[in-house]
Amino acid sequence: MSNVKFHNGENIPLEMHKVRIVQKLNLVPIERRLEAISEAGNNTFLLKNCDVFMDMLTDSGVNAMSDKQLGAMMEADDSYAGSATFTKLENKLREIFGTEFFLPAHQGRACENIISQAFVKPGTIVPMNYHFTTTRAHIVLNGGVVEEVITAEGLKENSDFPFKGNMDVAQLSALIEKKGAEKIAYVRIETGTNLIGGQPHSLENMREVREVCKKFGIMIVLDASLLADNLYFIKTREENCKNMTIREIAREMADLSDIIYFSARKLGCARGGGICTNNREAFYKMRELVTLYEGFLTYGGMSVREMEAITVGLDETMDENMINQGPQFIAFMVEELQKKGVPVITPPGGLGCHINAMKFLEHIPQREYRAGALAAALYIASGVRGMERGTISEARDDNGNETFANMELLRLAMPRRVFTLSQVKYAVDRIVWLYENRNLIGGLTFVEEPKILRFFFGKLRSVSDWQIKLVAKFREEFGDSL
Ligand code: F0G
Repeated sequence: MSNVKFHNGENIPLEMHKVRIVQKLNLVPIERRLEAISEAGNNTFLLKNCDVFMDMLTDSGVNAMSDKQLGAMMEADDSYAGSATFTKLENKLREIFGTEFFLPAHQGRACENIISQAFVKPGTIVPMNYHFTTTRAHIVLNGGVVEEVITAEGLKENSDFPFKGNMDVAQLSALIEKKGAEKIAYVRIETGTNLIGGQPHSLENMREVREVCKKFGIMIVLDASLLADNLYFIKTREENCKNMTIREIAREMADLSDIIYFSARKLGCARGGGICTNNREAFYKMRELVTLYEGFLTYGGMSVREMEAITVGLDETMDENMINQGPQFIAFMVEELQKKGVPVITPPGGLGCHINAMKFLEHIPQREYRAGALAAALYIASGVRGMERGTISEARDDNGNETFANMELLRLAMPRRVFTLSQVKYAVDRIVWLYENRNLIGGLTFVEEPKILRFFFGKLRSVSDWQIKLVAKFREEFGDSL
């Protein structure tokens, strides 16, 4: 898809793959969509796939696999111990990251469980550019505290800054000096920073963080789940890296880290996870936890077929023509929405298109969950399933008060190589319609609120009959259209 210019001057992402297997989609009528979202407690996690048209909930475990990945899955060696499939994956990670040791785990949060149990002690601090939900939950469960040291640009919804995921290095230094290096469990860098809109950090920033950590003798843990997007952005946005290959960038990132972990539901377009390191002591510390929680060291809870697919997927991640598909489709969607005045996070990042619900639904109080309300409204209007990434995704404080999120985002993930451009245009069309009718949208309130990770299972209801009015307006304007 890379560098193809259109004669008519339009900036259209062109796919460098063809579709050879398809899956039928359902677009149920809006009346059914209203019923379905009520049954799901206005929580898009609880919708059934048969009621969903475009599933933009996540890019986790749902990216399209290549023919080579599917082919490799047929050759898997399922020996419990000493599997050749494991050795292939271990060697691929060694080739890409230059790391000697690899510990398999069934997904990203399993790696977080192991790393947190091994290194986070009560009262310790984990500075990071920004937290991810499961990351913070594991650190807190082990008695640690998360301190975010993101640059000020990172929290601005709209910015021209190309690396909003960068850490504020001065703030990091000051934090370590204030708390004492012995209190720092490790510094975590999340590549392709998820919750601020899939925003990348630069290689230069990693080098600076490394300097600080070296000075204080602190480990860097790299969450490489969204590495593919970040590699693409470093290659295309960082002036000094223009002449580096994707492999060279990946290798330098690995060299700057002490421990790398990843969700292979994202990185490698399959399902699994793992931890890589050159630090023998850290490896031994984590190894016993892998056998305790995940499985034997040559599968770690993963199916061997998926491991084969990850090995090939990792190799394909080193191909710029493969990793540019997500970011370029996302940029297309963001730019189309911007043209119509819809508030979106800019610059476009990886992972998905992020709609700024704080601004979209200014008339709704934040305690009525702007991003959650927008997720429900978009599903009703279109059958497109997005994910709330705002206050519902936060947890209440110890006194039971809401912790309002810095950003209220509706994330529309772009699973790689899954949607066509006309489908993306459909989503844009319905979002624009919703924006023009935003005053019809109202808030939500909890009816069932779990204590931990409430966004997964929580159920809410609309605070008024706004959803019925939205359906009526849709019918008035779209007639009998689906
Ligand atoms: N780290 C990051 C940056 C992630 O985005 C995720 C998952 C994880 C860790 C945990 O990995 O799901 O394999 O256990 N993100 C998914 C998402 C769930 O939808 O953004 P996992």
